[in-house]
Order: sequence, then structure tokens, then C-alpha cells
Amino acid sequence: MKLSSRQDRLGTETAFETLAKAKKLEAMGKNIVHLEIGEPDFDSPSYVVSAAKKALDNGFTHYGPSAGQPELREAIAVHQGEFNGYDISPERVIVTPGGKPVMFFSILALVEKGDEVIYPNPGFPIYESMINYAGGIPVPMKLEESKDFNANVNDLKKLITNNTKMIIVNSPNNPCGSVTSVEDLEVISKIAIETDIVVLSDEIYKEMYYEGDHYSISRFEGMKERTIILDGFSKSYAMTGWRLGYGIFPEFMIDAITKLMTNSVSCTSVFSQMAAIEAIKGPRDFTLNMMQEFRKRREIVFNGLNSIDGINCRLPLGAFYAFPNISGTGLSSEEFANRALNDYGVALLSGTAFGEFGDNYIRISFANSEDNLSKAIDRLSKMISDLK
Ligand SMILES: Cc1ncc(COP(=O)(O)O)c(C=O)c1O
Repeated sequence: MKLSSRQDRLGTETAFETLAKAKKLEAMGKNIVHLEIGEPDFDSPSYVVSAAKKALDNGFTHYGPSAGQPELREAIAVHQGEFNGYDISPERVIVTPGGKPVMFFSILALVEKGDEVIYPNPGFPIYESMINYAGGIPVPMKLEESKDFNANVNDLKKLITNNTKMIIVNSPNNPCGSVTSVEDLEVISKIAIETDIVVLSDEIYKEMYYEGDHYSISRFEGMKERTIILDGFSKSYAMTGWRLGYGIFPEFMIDAITKLMTNSVSCTSVFSQMAAIEAIKGPRDFTLNMMQEFRKRREIVFNGLNSIDGINCRLPLGAFYAFPNISGTGLSSEEFANRALNDYGVALLSGTAFGEFGDNYIRISFANSEDNLSKAIDRLSKMISDLK
């Protein structure tokens, strides 16, 4: 028996593999500090949990419309409209089980064999995986450390060919914690319009800034019609396990994406969606308080990493990731990550898990307590001094 050849083209998200390895070591009695997985370590808001219980009691236990519960689509349209300063029709909102399916569905719906998709590298690994799976050609847009992990957008035009179908932007960025400036977004938007390509704008960290505010590329003149906004509840509301995300799609894609929902999962969990209405309509305090905690942790990680010989870390401006350069330690990214986990009990990811340009870096998720982060820094510091 044989798998289809397209399976050979499917990548993965290493965070889940490292988590499994770390859990195995823990089961053997090892103490591990978890800095590998990209999820807030806070509980979901209690009022959202109560709303889910109420929805279950009220019988929201059946199938719902494939595109999502109308009340939630409406609430998302209002939230996104207010956030971005333009009107969004609820028709354009499709609720999905997590933000990830928005990548999967958008790429499947748009990319033909041989079509090129420009994507950030280092970047979220599922972009490249899905482009390959759909038969497309991934074209990496290098994020440069010297530009605070942004692309040189003036060189972007060189990556465009007659086969370019889509460009993916992700700000704030996973794994770099970087933020794309409004000026750079404008350059990208102009290129997208000139060359008639679609932009998939992954804005899942839009409420996670340490300085400044979010600006969606969809706001530029002529961009609404060609931008897919990916967003969801996983990060801003600490609701990763609920599997709740959504896309705001250009009109021409709505039927295709709804059909993909019907074909794959029928609909997103209905009682989860009813609870999500409370999350999106509720106060912003939950996210703001979480960001206050992340800010303190960012200091610990940034100062701690920079105090270690051979490690250089830029200050993350958004999300909850640090992406230090470890080339001065003499270890490769993989060696660093393996040694940290197996010998020093710190689970983190090699930068290469985020693409070829992640070489010489590691990713640290600072979604862990201040005590655990300090412990991790001490352990990494010992690991590097033991090299001598
Ligand atoms: C950049 C980025 N986009 C999308 C997602 C997917 O989030 P979800 O858990 O809602 O599928 C993640 C999750 O880590 C992410 O980092």
C-alpha cells in the first residue's frame, strides 16, 4: 500500500514534535522548561468558558451553517470593521476551526500547479508546507536580522514573475516577533495591485504589540478586494484548544471557501462559536492584562539572552517570541536545540523549523512564568559556559 505522492510534499510544525519529545523526557522524570509551543499559558477568560457551558445547556450541540453562526459572523465583522476603520460585510467572514485552515483553504482555492507564492522566511512553517502540497512553488521572502527581521521590500519586485499568484505577510511575525512598518506594507500593497496578486495577511497577533498599534494591509486603497485577513481567538483570548479562527475573504472567494468548509469539517464547533461572541464583544482587559505580563517576560528573556556569550537578541516588538542569533556559540541551530532539551532541560525550537533563513537562530516562546524563564536563562547560560 502506498500514500499519494503529494504526501511527500507536506511539511510539519516542529513545535508539536518537540513538545512530544519534551513530554517523553518529563515522563522519565526530567525537569523541562517549555519554551517551544506558541500558545499563551493563561486560562481562557472565565466569562467565555461560562458562555460555552450555557451554549451547551441551551442545545447548541448540532451542526450549524458551514460559513459560521450568523451572530458570530456579524460580531466579527463589527470588531474587524472598528479595528480597521472601514465597513466589513458579515458575508465576507468565514469561521474556521482555528486560524490554520484559512491558510489551507486559501492556498487550495487559489494556487494551481506551478503558481508561485511569496512567503516570509523565517516564517510560520505551514505556509511553505501548504504551498508545496497544493503543487505551488514557494518563493521565500527573506526577513533580515539587520532590518529587525523585515524583508527588503524594495527588492520584492524581483521576486515577482508572471506566475506569482499570492504573497503572504505576517505582522507581528512568528517566529521573529517583528512588526512590518506601515510604509513597507504600503510598498507591498502597491506591488500587489500593480501585478494583480492576492495578499494573505496573517494578523493573528494583531492585538499583541509592545509599541505602536496594528495596521492591516487591507486598509490601503484597492486592497480590500484582494486581501484575505487571517485572524482568530487562539492568541488574543488564550483559546488555542477551542479551535476557533476566521478569515475575512474577498467577495470572489466566499463560495469556494464555504464549499471547502462543507467538504472538510461541515462547520466549526457551534457551542464554541456561541461562546466566542462573548470573547469578541467583551472588554479588551483580558488581552491587555496578558500583554502586561508578556512585557515583563520579554525583558527577562531579552536581557537574559543578551547576557550570554555568543547570543545576540533583538527586542521583539510584537507577539511573544524571541529569535536570537546563536551563531557566536559555535553550535548549529539544531545542535543548540537538541543540547538544550536533552542535556539542560530547556525545550525550544531551532530557527530552521521556520525555513532555510532561520539557520543560526533559535526561537523562544516566552509564554511561561517569570520564574521558569529565569530558570531557562540560567540553564542556557550554563550550557554555553560548559562548551568552553
Ligand atoms: C503566524 C501564525 N498564524 C496562524 C497560527 C494558527 O493559529 P490557530 O491555532 O488559530 O490555528 C499560528 C499559530 O501558532 C501562528 O503563529
